[in-house]
Amino acid sequence: MGRNIVIVGAQWGDEGKGKVVDWLTERAHGVVRFQGGHNAGHTLWIEGRKTILRLIPSGIMHPQVKCYIGNGVVLSPEALFNEIGELEAAGLEVRSRLFISGAAALILPYHIALDQAREARANNERIGTTGRGIGPAYEDKAARRALRVQDVFDAAHFKARLRENLDFYNFILSRYLNAAPVDEARTLDAALAYADQFAPLMANIPACLDAENRAGRHLLFEGAQGALLDVDHGTYPFVTSSHCVAGAAATGAGVGPRQLHYILGVAKAYCTRVGSGPFPSELYDANNPARCAQAGAALARTGHEFGSVTRRPRRTGWLDTAALARSLQLNSASGLCITKLDVLDAFDSIRLCTGYRLNGRRVDALPSSASLAAQCEPVYEDHPGWKTSTAGIRAWDDLPANARAYLRRIEAAAGVPIDLISTGPQRDAMILVRHPFD
Ligand code: GDP
Ligand code: IMO
Ligand code: MG
Repeated sequence: MGRNIVIVGAQWGDEGKGKVVDWLTERAHGVVRFQGGHNAGHTLWIEGRKTILRLIPSGIMHPQVKCYIGNGVVLSPEALFNEIGELEAAGLEVRSRLFISGAAALILPYHIALDQAREARANNERIGTTGRGIGPAYEDKAARRALRVQDVFDAAHFKARLRENLDFYNFILSRYLNAAPVDEARTLDAALAYADQFAPLMANIPACLDAENRAGRHLLFEGAQGALLDVDHGTYPFVTSSHCVAGAAATGAGVGPRQLHYILGVAKAYCTRVGSGPFPSELYDANNPARCAQAGAALARTGHEFGSVTRRPRRTGWLDTAALARSLQLNSASGLCITKLDVLDAFDSIRLCTGYRLNGRRVDALPSSASLAAQCEPVYEDHPGWKTSTAGIRAWDDLPANARAYLRRIEAAAGVPIDLISTGPQRDAMILVRHPFD
């Protein structure tokens, strides 16, 4: 049987999952997306060229690899075919090796309108969503009124269901949210026009993945977002609307949990968050003058911390191992990949948040309640910096002693071995300690 590896974000997203998936694809036959949508932005730098993937799995840059989009993804046809078009324009063959589940729920223009209108209206409770319609699309799925990819092949059914949904949502948009209604005919025509492009890509994904495994082929399951944005386990309500923990690979792709053989949690050597919500070790928020510590601004600057989807500046802070340990436990992580180590190269001193003070008491794990998490005061330990470049280093022994000591401390606090370390955005800037496929 083939071996299956799940790669998940262990923080609040943007940990560098795309780069890690691309690197691991060297040894894989297929890569699967199983949740989220085009709220994801996964950046690859290959031979000096940058590619940002939103829906297409990050294995696509390896020409022999098959890519799958599972039922757990919410899929905007417009975003998907634009992305395919961009990859094709760059000379990549995509359609012959991309397979899509008919059960994936569609993101249609009214989901985007609802997401944006709600965010515009909210004050304190603004989530800071990516405005891509993700939440409303998952709501429709749970409410059993979603239009799914396979529905584009049944025009009469699509039309009837769309009418019902728009009757409801256009009322909400215009009467309640003070926003423009969505045009029914235009939405219908645009969605059905994708049927010809969808048809050759449709596949029974659980059956495909099972056949690959039975033929001895290895698969990667590529998470989007991060465990602390999980709709159940994250800092609710400041979360996305899907499950981002490793278990979601089983439900979102249609493989049994016993088929997930190794779970890789990916975390930055520091921390970032984009959008609202608690972040105990936060140092810097471009939109909040009260949060402007110099070290945080340096992390944002050196780490180029701008959202790859929305270009919003990311909030930055020190690595929080109390949050990380909880996240790795939720994922039953087998190993950890620490990314962006090189971003810490110039610091005299580096802090690790290893717990919190909450109402005068010491707390060792990030509380799941957003209001309690927001009251947590970080407890730090200080580590000496290494003040020399680690950029592009590819062997553990070549790392400066202080960097090795910092990583060993993370490993001990997180309780999971570090199997990979990323030292730059480029594909080959990676230190291998233990290969997940071995
Ligand atoms: P993802 O959403 O988890 O795939 O991460 P993003 O692509 O949104 O954000 C990660 C950013 O960090 C991207 O700009 C990557 O090119 C970059 N990156 C990834 N790994 C490293 C690294 O080890 N060092 C540095 N300096 N940049 C990295
Ligand atoms: P990748 O896969 C970082 C955040 C948004 C917002 C919250 C809800 O690139 O790591 P949504 O649009 O999903 O309803 O927004 O989740 N968010 C992400 N943050 N990386 C992502 O994806 C994210 N996807 C959503 O900023 O706070
Ligand atoms: Mg990202």
